Amino acid sequence: MGLLLQISLFILLMILSHSLSQLEEFVSIDCGGATNYTDPITGIPWVSDSGMMPNGKPVNLQNQNGGSAQYRTRRDFPVDSNKYCYTLSVQQRRRYVVRATFKYVDSLGTEECSYPKFQLYLDATKWTTVTIYDVSRVYMKEMIVRAPSDSVDVCLCCATTGAPFISTLELRPLNLSMYATDFEDGFFLEVATRVNFGAETNETVRYPDDPYDRIWESDLAKRQNFLVGVASGTERINTSRNIDISTREHPPNKVMQTAVVGTKDLLSYRLNLDDFPANARAYAYFAEIEDLGPNEARKFQLVEPNLGEYNKAIVNIMENANGAYTLYEPSYMNVSLEFVLSFAFRKAPDSTRGPLLNAIEISRYVEIAQKTDSRDLTVLNSFLAMSGGSTLPANGDPCLPVAWEWVICSSTVPPRVTKIALTEKNINGTIPSSINEMEELTELWLDGNLFMGMIPDMSKLVSLKIVHLENNKLIGHLPSYLGNLQSLHELYVQNNSLSGDIPEAFLRKGFKFEYSGNPNLRRQQRKKVLVRLILGTSIGVLATILVLMVGGLLLLRNTRRRKIQAGKLGKGDSLRVTRKASTTYLSTRAGEEGLSYCISLSIIEEATGYFSRKVGKGSFGTVYYGKMKDGKEVAVKMMGDSSNHGNQQFATEVALLSRIHHRNLVPLIGYCKEDHQHILVYEYMHNGTLRDHVHDPVKRKNLDWLSRLTIAEDAAKGLDYLHTGCSPSIIHRDVKTSNILLDIHMRAKVSDFGLSRQAEEDLTHISSVARGTVGYLDPEYYASQQLTEKSDVYSFGVVLLELISGRKPVSAEDYGSDWNIVHWARSSIRRGDAPSIVDPILAGGHKIESIWRIAEVAIQSVELHSTARPRMQDVVLAIQDAIKIEKGAADRGGQKLSPGSSKAQSSRKTLLTSFLEVESPDLSSDCIIPAAR
Ligand SMILES: *[C@@H]1O[C@H](CO)[C@@H](O)[C@H](O)[C@H]1NC(C)=O
Ligand SMILES: *[C@@H]1O[C@H](CO)[C@@H](O)[C@H](O)[C@H]1NC(C)=O
Ligand SMILES: *[C@@H]1O[C@H](CO)[C@@H](O)[C@H](O)[C@H]1NC(C)=O
Ligand SMILES: *[C@@H]1O[C@H](CO)[C@@H](O)[C@H](O)[C@H]1NC(C)=O
Ligand SMILES: *[C@@H]1O[C@H](CO)[C@@H](O)[C@H](O)[C@H]1NC(C)=O
Ligand SMILES: *[C@@H]1O[C@H](CO)[C@@H](O)[C@H](O)[C@H]1NC(C)=O
Repeated sequence: MGLLLQISLFILLMILSHSLSQLEEFVSIDCGGATNYTDPITGIPWVSDSGMMPNGKPVNLQNQNGGSAQYRTRRDFPVDSNKYCYTLSVQQRRRYVVRATFKYVDSLGTEECSYPKFQLYLDATKWTTVTIYDVSRVYMKEMIVRAPSDSVDVCLCCATTGAPFISTLELRPLNLSMYATDFEDGFFLEVATRVNFGAETNETVRYPDDPYDRIWESDLAKRQNFLVGVASGTERINTSRNIDISTREHPPNKVMQTAVVGTKDLLSYRLNLDDFPANARAYAYFAEIEDLGPNEARKFQLVEPNLGEYNKAIVNIMENANGAYTLYEPSYMNVSLEFVLSFAFRKAPDSTRGPLLNAIEISRYVEIAQKTDSRDLTVLNSFLAMSGGSTLPANGDPCLPVAWEWVICSSTVPPRVTKIALTEKNINGTIPSSINEMEELTELWLDGNLFMGMIPDMSKLVSLKIVHLENNKLIGHLPSYLGNLQSLHELYVQNNSLSGDIPEAFLRKGFKFEYSGNPNLRRQQRKKVLVRLILGTSIGVLATILVLMVGGLLLLRNTRRRKIQAGKLGKGDSLRVTRKASTTYLSTRAGEEGLSYCISLSIIEEATGYFSRKVGKGSFGTVYYGKMKDGKEVAVKMMGDSSNHGNQQFATEVALLSRIHHRNLVPLIGYCKEDHQHILVYEYMHNGTLRDHVHDPVKRKNLDWLSRLTIAEDAAKGLDYLHTGCSPSIIHRDVKTSNILLDIHMRAKVSDFGLSRQAEEDLTHISSVARGTVGYLDPEYYASQQLTEKSDVYSFGVVLLELISGRKPVSAEDYGSDWNIVHWARSSIRRGDAPSIVDPILAGGHKIESIWRIAEVAIQSVELHSTARPRMQDVVLAIQDAIKIEKGAADRGGQKLSPGSSKAQSSRKTLLTSFLEVESPDLSSDCIIPAAR
């Protein structure tokens, strides 16, 4: 009771602190401003950038006393080859609106010949080009990002005309799943337009009307610029009633309370989209704000030649939103749009009212550019730390869009640092040992500083050509491997305190080596070399022999083990000796004799003590514990009604089961069909079913969030393998927590393909009687009888919700009128309130972001329409994402998580191969089968 109270208090506090801090979380920088102040109209506090931006100069604009305070000043930057960055701290993986605005105002009061044109970057990603045409206009650039790391840099650079400048910079955190897209690992979203139709004035709507302070432009103001082509008969309507806006993007009430209506059957607009053509995410926001009579309907269709398929859909807001005064927000998650967007809505023939539109929002997908390799960054940061911070210019990414003054970079993706030029920078410290990771480094200039300690290991820097270490305080020996670096041809170490012998290789022809001013450094004497050489060689030989011996022993052991295992299998009628053999076998016909071996009934009776220990009941029949003669523990499944399974079907199923080998699927060891008995023998799973663990009040406590994630990942991989690892694919048909078993190490394996049926190769779905378990059953499959892999995805979505919440899938007690876990969780998550569905036992022991990641994918998985659900493969990736977030710390700071990285790509590619612990699979065969175990 006390615990419960504490937990609910905790959650309450979290919610309270969230809404209270909405405004506090805003970052609003008035560039060039001299003071901090609160804007009297919006109530937003603004801070001057004077403390955070040492570069550039503030400019006071004349005759701007009437407008907002933010636009009375701007900050101008020098016209040079550097970039100038503001660094904003963010919460990694949270989504934000980042907004920069630019109001120039002809500061000299004279007509300048050309106004500024320069580049804007977010981290290493090109955001847009800022071009000033109209000095009195505010140019606004907005980007929606999921923060790739703990901070984002907004950088200005590369002016073509005039000098780069900025007026304001704003950061607005979003609620966690707003603006989530399937592409956010690789793309930011640049907002191209966000229009409030039917607006009451020409003013923008923003905070406090929009709690997230998005800026909604009035169609009245927009029209002056480029919102043209308005059809005749367009009328503006409004309501004072509140609109239910609690869908994903939460557009503000004030925006939804106004709309335009095409009273002559047509609504049409044309507008320009900056930085287009491009792939876009387009949202329309609709709410019925007129009171329709009982026999009235408002139905319309989109007319946009480029959108093809989308034109066919008929919008009926009342039906789509399930009522009037309720938001309906259809979205096109990836459409290709031109610079000029012409669109229209046309009344449907059977509609009594004309089309209506409340708002639109269109954003461009901007591919995220990879930042400089994190290993290089680590080293550069160490040098910065030793420089006392202030003397070395270091702004944003070291290489992109333009490199720091003291480095040169390659143009590879990601960029690598090829030269460090730190001559006479007063750096005091030791040369960081991580420098050995800067594999592309060709020149290192550290001369004339206060470097002390030894020369670190640089043996991996095979591209190194020129090294300047002179005039420092280095001590110790000159490492001899430097002489072996193929490309190195200039080495300067004068005036240090190095000691010992100079390796022979340094004195070779063509190698420029300067070492004067090191009193204890001397040329080597021949004799010593010889002794060392002999000593060195003999140690080398000894080591080689040792390695060979150990290797040989291991090899011997492995072969022997394989033989023993093959021998064990050999007890059966047929066996899998090598992968090749089994593949060939399969390509014939999975028939009478499966690949697993047949075990006689007497052996099974002996192993199970005449079926004395019942351990469970699967959908196929009762399961008994058994122990084979060789000590192997097994689960023996007696099929209940053998008459349902004719001999042929049984044989087919055994053949199917025995083909499936994957570390996240419970392996079939053998089968038996004697005396009308149909028996399957599986490996025994010591920790029972996941259901027991999630719903048992005691066991549940040991199941922390990370172990739940690991179990989910295992099970998802098992299912993905069923769907994609074999051809034709296999649909499980009864995914649920009691069919996910846990082995002795708490790793999960999916069991019971009792209902599995191979999906027929040339059909995308097969029909058969809907089977499955209440609470997990895909409603679409139930209604249509069309079975696809997405039905398993639905069921697995329910499993994920169970893992998050610790609740059962169906329970009148738990969910009341919501009836099942899906409705209950969906409504909480749509409200933006994932914390309320989290298992109270997990309180505190998890990162809310990783919960969100799973909650999001779970909710997508239980979408009503199977086409909207992710593939199992995507679910696996989402879970792995969540695991990364949860483990977090290791990746913090580096760019390992940086979106769009080739790592994410390659993880996709190797997904299939990573399933198999053994060796890479023979992909040429139909089915992936690991080598003999
Ligand atoms: C404005 O506020 C920021 C942080 O709140 C502070 O660091 C800065 O010194 C303030 N600047 C002025 C000019 O008061
Ligand atoms: C809005 O309308 C007022 C007058 O109605 C006008 O003075 C002002 O310039 C307009 N503002 C914009 C942004 O169009
Ligand atoms: C709102 O709509 C009513 C008609 O329904 C109209 O009379 C009124 O002027 C509108 N208000 C505004 C501010 O446009
Ligand atoms: C959108 O679709 C296009 C073409 O189908 C594809 O190339 C692109 O990767 C998709 N995603 C984004 C974010 O552009
Ligand atoms: C260099 O740093 C060390 C401590 O890290 C300090 O003792 C020494 O005085 C510094 N030398 C100079 C010249 O700043
Ligand atoms: C989402 O935002 C609303 C209002 O801005 C706030 O009340 C709510 O607590 C937020 N939810 C989450 C999960 O952050």
